[in-house]
Amino acid sequence: MSLTLRVYVPSHPLIKHWLSVARDESTPTVLFRSAMTELGRWLTYEATRDWLPTTESEVQTPLAPCPATFIDPEVPIVVVPILRAGLALLDGAQALLPLASIYHVGLVRNEETLEASCYLNKLPEQMPPGTRVLVTDPMLATGGSSHSLLKLLVERGVDPALIRIVAVVAAPQALQLLGADFPALSIFTAAIDEGLNDRGYIVPGLGDAGDRTFGT
Ligand code: PRP
Ligand code: URA
Repeated sequence: MSLTLRVYVPSHPLIKHWLSVARDESTPTVLFRSAMTELGRWLTYEATRDWLPTTESEVQTPLAPCPATFIDPEVPIVVVPILRAGLALLDGAQALLPLASIYHVGLVRNEETLEASCYLNKLPEQMPPGTRVLVTDPMLATGGSSHSLLKLLVERGVDPALIRIVAVVAAPQALQLLGADFPALSIFTAAIDEGLNDRGYIVPGLGDAGDRTFGT
């Protein structure tokens, strides 16, 4: 069976609103961070819809026994923020996944070659079978950073079909690269933009997500 990358752009007014706030160059750092938190929250809500494993049981209401559905505590749930900018989406994701383990990975693009290199890797050597991984990275530009992380995850035994990327803006170049090597992957993004400029920035995009998040 051949698989094709699944890319979702949820049509929710709150996602559109906070994306527009983030895009606006006059948005100050404090509000930009709030916009990222909200985007992290609502995109995670969409991304976890058919991904969180549940288990069926029964509870006793004050009136009668009743069938009950809970999040399955046996299945490991992991969030991996790509530093730095992926941290901006983490609070929103964690609000919905309070029991998830967080493994930080630091990746930075070389400004000349646009190639990503890894400067921090807190991933365990092996992930248990069935682990669900939610990756947060607001910008998928060339796709090099997220591609590097996907390779690290697959090396550690993660099934690409159980990985969701939560992004804010994606360029077609990134979707092509990720789709070619990880067709079972799913991406949830607030927007797919036109492309990249000659410095590898997404156009229209929102600028440098890391700098705008941390005021650098
Ligand atoms: C930015 C962004 C993504 C990456 C996307 O990180 O946060 O991780 O670029 O670009 P790519 O798809 O072409 O790899 P950056 O390297 O600027 O580091 P930062 O998050 O620390 O600012
Ligand atoms: N990284 C960013 O922060 N913004 C872009 O547009 C591309 C890469």
